[in-house]
Amino acid sequence: MGEFKPLVFSGVQPTGNLHLGNYLGAIRKFVALQENNDCIYCVVDLHALTAQLVHEDMASQIRSITAAFLASGIDPKSHIVFNQSAVPQHAELAWIFNCVARIGWMNRMTQFKDKAGKDREQASLGLYAYPSLMAADILVYRATHVPVGEDQKQHLELTRDIAMKFNLDFMEHIRRAGQGIDITVGDEPVHAYFPMVEPLIDGPAPRVMSLKDGTKKMSKSDPSDLSRVNLMDDAETISKKIRKAKTDPDALPSETEGLKGRPEADNLVGIFAALADKSKEDVLKDFGGQQFSVFKPALVELAVEVLSPISAEMRKLMADPAHIDSILRDGGERARARAEKTMNEVRDIIGFVK
Ligand code: TRP
Repeated sequence: MGEFKPLVFSGVQPTGNLHLGNYLGAIRKFVALQENNDCIYCVVDLHALTAQLVHEDMASQIRSITAAFLASGIDPKSHIVFNQSAVPQHAELAWIFNCVARIGWMNRMTQFKDKAGKDREQASLGLYAYPSLMAADILVYRATHVPVGEDQKQHLELTRDIAMKFNLDFMEHIRRAGQGIDITVGDEPVHAYFPMVEPLIDGPAPRVMSLKDGTKKMSKSDPSDLSRVNLMDDAETISKKIRKAKTDPDALPSETEGLKGRPEADNLVGIFAALADKSKEDVLKDFGGQQFSVFKPALVELAVEVLSPISAEMRKLMADPAHIDSILRDGGERARARAEKTMNEVRDIIGFVK
């Protein structure tokens, strides 16, 4: 029995400004994973075409996500940071996966249904195939672990289904090509070329909610900028947004039980806990019984302390686009070498003439 070499992969779309939810829910996890893993972090610019085809500021959006990665502490030398379009093997493997995935599987994707809205006939083929490209992003490196938000879980299940079908349909070819390793999936022995990816979902504050409505996710598409703290916000703006955040009139409870039915209080305590790297229980030990007039200034101070070095570094990086581009180019080159190795083996497995 073998095992795939552990490799972390994740992607962020270059659309809209990054906010606290992206930082706490994703980027900070990416940073922590670097310590014990080989990691590849990708700005998924091809995916950005699925929501909107024409972007006036594509390049600066790509650079801004890259800057957020670097400013948050992702090390592009020990790991890989690049933009997806620099590695055409993603799109090549996505085509093969389009032929592996079944229409019935794609029709079950809730994100497609949400994004396509009522007029599904008008949605692009790219939006429909989005999860297949996402599977290719991951599997072109044969990555094993993917830190994502809860909302991407279904796409990772699809990634496993695609990997499993490829492994089973091509099992004899995989053997003949001298590729693949013996693993068990459930109780079933499989000679697998692609690993079964695992989502890495938990960790502090996986869901950061809107500052204006504790039942809605903090989102870059919310029309109210007061609903989110952006990574590039300065101290004064952060302070204003948190001071204006919606709350209820009660004092904070001493136990997490007391946050039930109080989505705004729950959200702010969750944000505090995540920023402080503590549990909500611990935050309530300190602030239980206190009014928001005491809690909010403490949250402002903490948020500014954590975020201002990041936004300052982002600003510095954004002032030198050529430097960011050179990092992306270097990452792209290293990613391409790895992805091409996989594609070469996939071409052998399928039986293409080379
Ligand atoms: N779909 C992901 C999101 O919206 C972005 C993404 C694209 C991704 N490819 C990926 C995430 C591969 C993880 C792995 O958040």
